[in-house]
Amino acid sequence: KEDEFEKSFKEIISTLPKSNGWGVSKDLCQYQGFWLHPNFLRGVVAAQQRFQAQPTDIILCSVPKAGTTWLKSLTFATISRTSFDDSTTPLLSNMPHEIVPFMELHHAQFFTNKDRGIPLLSTHIPYPSLPRSVIDSGCKLVYICRDPKDSFVSMYHFIARNLTSRKVQPLGLDEAFELFCEGQCFYGPYWDHVLGYWKASLEHPDKILFLKYEEMRGDTVVYVKKLAEFINYPFSSEEQENGVPEKIVKMCSFEKLSNLEVNKTGVYGELGTGFVENKTYFRKGEVGDWKNCLTPEMAARLDQITMQKLSGSGLSL
Ligand code: A3P
Repeated sequence: KEDEFEKSFKEIISTLPKSNGWGVSKDLCQYQGFWLHPNFLRGVVAAQQRFQAQPTDIILCSVPKAGTTWLKSLTFATISRTSFDDSTTPLLSNMPHEIVPFMELHHAQFFTNKDRGIPLLSTHIPYPSLPRSVIDSGCKLVYICRDPKDSFVSMYHFIARNLTSRKVQPLGLDEAFELFCEGQCFYGPYWDHVLGYWKASLEHPDKILFLKYEEMRGDTVVYVKKLAEFINYPFSSEEQENGVPEKIVKMCSFEKLSNLEVNKTGVYGELGTGFVENKTYFRKGEVGDWKNCLTPEMAARLDQITMQKLSGSGLSL
């Protein structure tokens, strides 16, 4: 069966348009309108063919570098709060991506944390490419996005740091920026990814919660309460009086998570793409860090593309 899958996958991939792989892979491949790393693409195709969502699943969806790691920790801590507290949570010794696996990276297993009794997993798959069963099951999706200027800068640094530690020369900033503007980045075009989930969230507000990194940074407690309610794990008044949401926010804060030993020195194995140092998922965690990296001209160009792409959608980033 695996052989058959590999054969059909090779056929699919051979027909796809290719673009610059940012030094991470030879190429990115354009599949159903989005640019994917070949190993992630394998997972996307496998998920489309095999993934069986359950109505009780909760799937955390995101465009890369929008706050996936943070959303995973907040959601996991919220769901598991009756089993663990901030001195026993698995978040203390596991990096959030180990606790909440990626659907397309763990395609061979499709385990959804059922061993912990928690049907929680994540994906970067664009909305139109989600496996049919995700839509049909009616399970809950939570999406997070971010100002594309900060996401681009975050992605640029993430790749540069990981490639440098593998002794591979990373792309220059200008070249990476050009590719990002053209939409030729991981799971890009960025704007199309965001718009897919945005439109779906307007159509199905009970099934898709649409979050923005910046708003969550502004008042995380409010959004954690909203998140808890949406996924059917609302905080009781007693929990609220006892400051449980605040404790979860503190546990999952950038300061706390980035200073844990596991996140300072551990590595995370992304299937097929090699190991990534956990600390590269925790860089600065700031809103507006693009100012330290992009020229005003570059920022204006990205803002212009964002305005154009989102115009008429009711969404601003
Ligand atoms: P920066 O590179 O701007 O610092 P993703 O998790 O989707 O890969 O996104 C990574 C970005 O989220 C990085 O942004 C990272 O620092 C930030 N981040 C990671 N953990 C965070 C946390 N607990 N709170 C806020 N931001 C966090």
